[in-house]
Amino acid sequence: VRTIDWSGDHVVIVEQTKLPHVVQFVELRTVDSLIGAVRRLAVRGAPALGVAGGLGVALAAVEATARALSGAAWDQAVRADAARLRTARPTAVNLAWGVDHVLERLPAGHDAVVAAAVALLQLDIETNRALSMRGAALVRELTDRPARLLTHCNAGGLACVEWGTALGVVRALHEQGWIAEVFADETRPLLQGARLTAFELAAMGIPHRVVVDGAGPSVIARGMVDAVVVGADRIAANGDVVNKIGTYPLALAAKRAGVAFLVAAPESTIDPATADGAAVEIEHRSSDEVTEWLGTSMVPPGTSALNLAFDVTPYDLVTALITERRAVRLAADGRLSDEAAPTST
Ligand code: MRU
Repeated sequence: VRTIDWSGDHVVIVEQTKLPHVVQFVELRTVDSLIGAVRRLAVRGAPALGVAGGLGVALAAVEATARALSGAAWDQAVRADAARLRTARPTAVNLAWGVDHVLERLPAGHDAVVAAAVALLQLDIETNRALSMRGAALVRELTDRPARLLTHCNAGGLACVEWGTALGVVRALHEQGWIAEVFADETRPLLQGARLTAFELAAMGIPHRVVVDGAGPSVIARGMVDAVVVGADRIAANGDVVNKIGTYPLALAAKRAGVAFLVAAPESTIDPATADGAAVEIEHRSSDEVTEWLGTSMVPPGTSALNLAFDVTPYDLVTALITERRAVRLAADGRLSDEAAPTST
């Protein structure tokens, strides 16, 4: 099952807000409906957002063609939709990457745009499979018995097209008989860990337990995990990692405990144009996501929440960054910018 797909002239997604209890597919036939789905996290996770960005440009092309636009008017309409989609969420660089990647084909016309967007689906699967194998090999180097891992948020197939990043590493290790147990942080406030990661782990038959976010560092300190494996929404030029809020405390705890902190992400998550994590726009989401539970307020009247959706883990807390092309030992070897350029292996 693909989390996001293209069906002739429209996008189909798994509606992630209803998981784990309801598996529902939703057809998105307009750029506006896709932007809405991105904003409410019906489709989410950096690689899936990249593909959504690309497919969104295809959707814009379909809409412009259906309005009988042509030439400069067609081009202008597609670019205007693409610009709105590109900024639907600010932090994951993959969204803009996917939009820009497909926009490059605009001069070649409607069919070329759709073909470039559809090609992103298979590219995402192959990329994440490759980085998962590399990550699994690294974990096996670090462990002399089936691994106990901790992960945060959801970096699984639901955050990509089919194969995950961090959870892709877990999946590859499981297929090699090398997983003892996975701890999934519940990931307040939207519970991507409890709802989505646990859903995927259960479906794969992988032994797992959910822990509250505040427990993650203690699980690490108590010697209950061999490595922490997470995904990323943006990796700055210096190797700083931006990921779901709550990732940074895990990296601090892992450093203190001498536990490996691994980041698995495609090269498209690396943003050479952003110098460091401090320069990344962190998405602020609605206060209600924190203060309400199933529509009921959990705080006194007048209390609001600061709802930062992501945090920055400095590069020197990252043991290794694993992509489809390389494993960079950030903590040991220095900053990412000191490493080979992203195009090298
Ligand atoms: O707000 P979300 O659910 O889109 O955040 C997702 C994450 O933070 C993931 O860890 C990240 O995108 C990596 S997904 C392979």
